[in-house]
Order: sequence, then C-alpha cells, then structure tokens
Amino acid sequence: MYSEKVMDHFTNPRNVGEIENASGVGTVGNAKCGDIMRIYFDIDDNQVIRDVKFKTFGCGAAVATSSMATELVKGKTIYEALEVTNKAVMEALDGLPPVKVHCSLLAEEAIHAALWDYCQKNNITIEGLNKPKSDISEEEPEEEY
Ligand code: FES
Repeated sequence: MYSEKVMDHFTNPRNVGEIENASGVGTVGNAKCGDIMRIYFDIDDNQVIRDVKFKTFGCGAAVATSSMATELVKGKTIYEALEVTNKAVMEALDGLPPVKVHCSLLAEEAIHAALWDYCQKNNITIEGLNKPKSDISEEEPEEEY
C-alpha cells in the first residue's frame, strides 16, 4: 500500500522538533480527520530557509509527508518554498494512496502557513501566497505543544 520512501520517512522522520524564536511558524489542521501539523522555519536575511522542523499529530502519511516537505524546502528561498506543492511532495515519496492525498495537502498548507507567518512579521508579500484556510495558529496556544 505504501511506497518504501513513505515507510522510510514514517519510521525515520527527518527534521522532527521545534525551533525557538522561529522566523515563521505555521499550524494547520484538517477538520475531518483531526490531524494537526506545525512547521517552524529559520529564515536568514537573504530569505533562505536555513533550518526547518516539524511536529505532526496525525496519521503515518501525514508524518511522512511533513518529513519529506521539510527536506524539500530546506535551503530554498521563501519564493522557491512556495513552489513545493503537495504534488511535489507526493512525487518525492513515490506516491500515496488516493485516500491519503489530503495528508500531503496538509503538508503544503503547513508550509504556506509558516511562510505566511514570516511574511506577516516582516511586512513581505509573496505573490500567490494566501493564508491557508486550515491555518489554526491563532486558535492554538503555543504552550500546548
Ligand atoms: Fe488526516 Fe492523514 S488522515 S492527515
């Protein structure tokens, strides 16, 4: 059912954790399955994502897609990171079963939410970036994590 890459990123997820004083933090949730994903970015003065960490309270596919998504955005500029779609994440994982596509969407939205937070804090506009509908950052107190 799952590719080897999905299993690898699920059993050995990369970039798990959090970043203190992160440049941007995004938390998104899927109302249907209840899964929650949070991504932290450390972005330097050149708008390059130097470090990225995530925490996911969700299914195996959500863990695998967040892990792969963090790998894909690391070292990229904020503009390049916006191009990392759920399709790109799924392709990098050699595919996901159709019922698990929404999990990869959550990863894409978590990236957007963290980029959005960074842009809000720094008065930057990225063309094509909107606050994701699944963004629940304001509903979740920091200490809960
Ligand atoms: Fe909801 Fe995977 S089942 S994110």
